[in-house]
Amino acid sequence: MLVTGASSGIGRATAVLCAGMGAAVWLTGRDPVRLQATLDSLPGAGHGQYVADLTDEAARNALVDSLPALDGCVFCAGAVELVPARLVSEKHLNDMMQINFNVPVLLTQRLLARKRVRDDASLVYVTAVAERIAPVATSMYSAAKAALTAYVRTLALEHAKRRIRANCVSPGYVATPMLTALASTADMQDKLDLTPLGTIEPSDVAHGIGYLLAPASRWVTRSSLLIDGGLSLPMR
Ligand SMILES: NC(=O)c1ccc[n+]([C@@H]2O[C@H](COP(=O)([O-])OP(=O)(O)OC[C@H]3O[C@@H](n4cnc5c(N)ncnc54)[C@H](OP(=O)(O)O)[C@@H]3O)[C@@H](O)[C@H]2O)c1
Repeated sequence: MLVTGASSGIGRATAVLCAGMGAAVWLTGRDPVRLQATLDSLPGAGHGQYVADLTDEAARNALVDSLPALDGCVFCAGAVELVPARLVSEKHLNDMMQINFNVPVLLTQRLLARKRVRDDASLVYVTAVAERIAPVATSMYSAAKAALTAYVRTLALEHAKRRIRANCVSPGYVATPMLTALASTADMQDKLDLTPLGTIEPSDVAHGIGYLLAPASRWVTRSSLLIDGGLSLPMR
C-alpha cells in the first residue's frame, strides 16, 4: 500500500490504520523527520518510506521505481492557501493545481504505466468538501479538488476491466496541521462552528479511506464518500 502525505494529518492516520490492519505501507512526504516519526509509529513489518517533493517529476518517477506492485494507493498529499478570487495570480493557480490535481493524476499515470497497480487494487483520492461548497478564498483549491473528482470518475471506468476501483473521500474541516495553519491566517471559528457534528479527527477520515481500500467496498467505485460532519447541508 502507498500513502502520500504520510508525514502529517490524514495521511499519517491512514498509514497507522492500514498498518494496524496488517498492510505493508509505503510512506511518502517531504519532511524527513515527520515521515520517520510516522514510520516509527507503525505496527507490523515490511513498511518503507521515501522522502520526495511530488511536484518534482524526477522524484515522483524515482518513487514509483522504488515501489513493489500495490493493492492500494491513498493520495493524501495536498495543500491549501487562502486567496480571494479577485487576487488570484497565475502562480497561486498553478500552485493549487500542481499539488492537488497534477500530482495525483501524474503519479497515478506513472504507477499504472510501470505496472505498480495490481488487479483488484483500490485507489483512494482525498478531495475536500470545499469542491461542493466553495468556502470564501478557496476558489483555486476547490476547483483543483473538483477537477480531481471528475478525473477519478473516468479513471475508474477505464480500469474497471482489471477490477481496479477508484474513489474519493471528501472531508470537511479536519483537525490537522493544515487546519491549524489556516486558523493562524484567518479567523476560522465561525466556519468550524458550521459543522453540526463538531470537529473531525484525522482517524475519522482514515476509517472512511480504510473502508474504500477494503474488500468490504468491492462494489464501490467512481464514488465520493463525504465525511463532513453535516457541514455541506443547509441548516434549518
Ligand atoms: N484538514 C482539513 O480540514 C482538510 C479538509 C478537506 C480536505 N483535506 C485534504 O486532506 C489531505 C491531507 O491534508 P491534511 O489536513 O492531512 O494536511 P497536512 O497535515 O498539512 O498534510 C499534508 C501532507 O501533504 C504533503 N505534501 C504537501 N505538499 C507536498 C508536496 N509538494 N510533495 C509531497 N508531499 C506534499 C505534506 O508533506 P510534508 O508535511 O512532509 O511537507 C503532508 O504530509 C489534503 O489533500 C487536503 O487537501 C484536508
